[in-house]
Amino acid sequence: MEFQKGPLRRIVFIAIEMWLAAALALLILFVLANIGRSSDMLAKSNYTTIGVAPPEDITSQDSGENGEIDELHPQFGFADLAELLPKVATDDRTVIITSVNEAFARPNSLLDLFRESFRSGEGISHLLNHVLVVAVDAKAFVHCRAVHPHCYLLEVTSMNLSSANNFMSEAYVELVWTKLSLQQRVLELGYNFLFTDVDIVWLRNPFRHISVFADMTTSSDVFFGDIDNLDTFPNTGFYYVKATNRTVEMLRRWRAARARFEPNHEQHIFNQIKHELAAELGARIQFLDTARFGGFCQFFRNDIAVACTMHANCCVGLGNKLHDLRDVLGQWRNYTGLTPQEKSSRGFTWRVPAKCGTPDKKNP
Ligand SMILES: *[C@@H]1O[C@H](CO)[C@@H](O)[C@H](O)[C@H]1NC(C)=O
Ligand SMILES: *[C@@H]1O[C@H](CO)[C@@H](O)[C@H](O)[C@H]1NC(C)=O
Ligand SMILES: *[C@@H]1O[C@H](CO)[C@@H](O)[C@H](O)[C@H]1NC(C)=O
Ligand SMILES: *[C@@H]1O[C@H](CO)[C@@H](O)[C@H](O)[C@H]1NC(C)=O
Repeated sequence: MEFQKGPLRRIVFIAIEMWLAAALALLILFVLANIGRSSDMLAKSNYTTIGVAPPEDITSQDSGENGEIDELHPQFGFADLAELLPKVATDDRTVIITSVNEAFARPNSLLDLFRESFRSGEGISHLLNHVLVVAVDAKAFVHCRAVHPHCYLLEVTSMNLSSANNFMSEAYVELVWTKLSLQQRVLELGYNFLFTDVDIVWLRNPFRHISVFADMTTSSDVFFGDIDNLDTFPNTGFYYVKATNRTVEMLRRWRAARARFEPNHEQHIFNQIKHELAAELGARIQFLDTARFGGFCQFFRNDIAVACTMHANCCVGLGNKLHDLRDVLGQWRNYTGLTPQEKSSRGFTWRVPAKCGTPDKKNP
């Protein structure tokens, strides 16, 4: 009995051992596969997504599927940025960056209006040659290519935008953060950038009001009268950053700060950390006066006689933004058509936006 039991027990033991080894191997494979996938997703979320479009306006993410994307030779990752930037930048290495989805880029939508404003503006049409339009889906890229010389496709692959239907939705918040990754890359490549939301019309040259002193110059939601007052509420829908080692670090810290606060979009976190960026990093941050860099948030402060931009902020809905921005541009054309005498005698002021609600009352 003892003699027979030995080999049997050994066989059973070996079988159990082999089974355990196989199970362990499978487990290891499974874990490795998942590590691979999550790091892949992380890399994707850093490099293949960018966006600033408010989600209520993202309506047409339905098409532009793989076949079409491949034909377009999309620039996945930031790989082609280094080749593209020299073509777009001014001779002092500055690029103007905006971002569009399909709804914003389709004919007669915000991209057309944005571009039209440069032509109606005061001697700023040449700046259009220095605008890099970042398209976040394949259709937006096609629309962009049809009207604009410098388009860059960052395909949104790692998230479902059709579910991004509220301002604070996870996908939208992810998009606005990924925007910062691209901007950091631009700085690393040695280019200054002026980021502008596409729901802004340009009227006069903003660079007149950006000081060589500042590392970062941002527009304001609410401006208190002092460009150096760090308590000003920033609006990062329009801001300039000078390319220096300090600003690369500033954007790195800005992105890293995300982990320290409740989930929120990048403008809110910037507002939280602006004092420490100034104190610890020595970042020099200045704010643009809403009298010049206006928006519907602090509408009544904006002065058409000196205005550089008008932003459809504090306004929900693509249709409403389009209506009121078109009206702004129409008023601007009427204003610029006047003689200097007429301009001063008539006291031309902006008409209150009809669709974007009561200005100076709301804050998004
Ligand atoms: C992507 O971003 C995460 C978090 O911001 C960071 O930890 C990671 O290193 C980044 N990955 C790459 C490839 O840059
Ligand atoms: C995206 O989200 C929407 C709404 O939640 C859902 O109906 C749709 O099936 C999702 N699409 C994919 C590809 O997950
Ligand atoms: C900026 O950083 C680069 C790379 O780390 C370094 O080579 C260079 O010396 C730095 N420049 C200044 C002015 O600190
Ligand atoms: C421009 O002026 C014309 C003529 O006074 C007027 O009819 C039109 O409504 C004005 N347009 C805007 C957008 O204010």
